[in-house]
Amino acid sequence: MKIGILGSGPVGLTLGKGLIQTGHHVTIGTRNPSRESLQQWVKKQGKQALAGTFRQAAEFGELLLICTSWPGTKKAIEAAGIWNFKTKTVVDVTNPLDGKGPDDNGRLTFTIGHNNSAGEQIQAWLPPDANVVKALSCIGHERMLLPEFKEGSPTMFIAGNSVEAKRQVTNLLHQIGWDDVADMGMIEMSRSIEPLSILWAAYGFLNDSNAHAFKLLKK
Ligand SMILES: NC(=O)c1ccc[n+]([C@@H]2O[C@H](COP(=O)([O-])OP(=O)(O)OC[C@H]3O[C@@H](n4cnc5c(N)ncnc54)[C@H](OP(=O)(O)O)[C@@H]3O)[C@@H](O)[C@H]2O)c1
Repeated sequence: MKIGILGSGPVGLTLGKGLIQTGHHVTIGTRNPSRESLQQWVKKQGKQALAGTFRQAAEFGELLLICTSWPGTKKAIEAAGIWNFKTKTVVDVTNPLDGKGPDDNGRLTFTIGHNNSAGEQIQAWLPPDANVVKALSCIGHERMLLPEFKEGSPTMFIAGNSVEAKRQVTNLLHQIGWDDVADMGMIEMSRSIEPLSILWAAYGFLNDSNAHAFKLLKK
């Protein structure tokens, strides 16, 4: 499948690599497609990889991933052209962080409080027939692909309004190694999923770790 990834940071490139390895074709969208390090990344991935503008990536993708910094997300969507999201599944990987880093307790802060979420905000910015699915926001990029731990497979929590879009994203998650996907309901549930990133990061700061993940234990 043709996948457009808005964002050329660690998350965009990690997911791009993983999706290419599972047979997909990927265009990474960025403000600066000619960046040397990005061109090298494209070369290394081979024929299934391209880099382009946000618009080119959004035009290319039958399915789109949003992997931009929170302050840059609305700008990236506007640069991509909101009509390019119509009828598509849109995976929202963002966390609405204020960018100030952790406080003395290792706690990151969201810019939009806890009565809203990036997932809902992005759904509202896009055409109504674009189907946003929150996913992959509560794991560091280092463990986004094939997340195997000695205690077993971690859980990926997703949310979105379209059952079909969530089915599609669940399939993609299975392809990149997430065996356990928990559908938490409508996109509003992003309010509960996104703060897991604060918890994930706090554990990381306190234990100097990026090798941890969440698991939902079931009877
Ligand atoms: N890092 C992680 O482990 C992790 C894990 C889970 C979720 N997340 C979330 O995933 C998202 C991406 O994180 P990241 O660590 O890969 O990188 P990041 O530094 O948060 O974001 C990099 C991307 O944001 C774009 N961007 C920044 N400012 C912009 C602006 N003014 N206008 C348009 N685009 C702008 C950059 O565009 P250019 O390509 O043009 O520079 C780049 O593609 C974030 O929302 C983050 O919270 C991160």
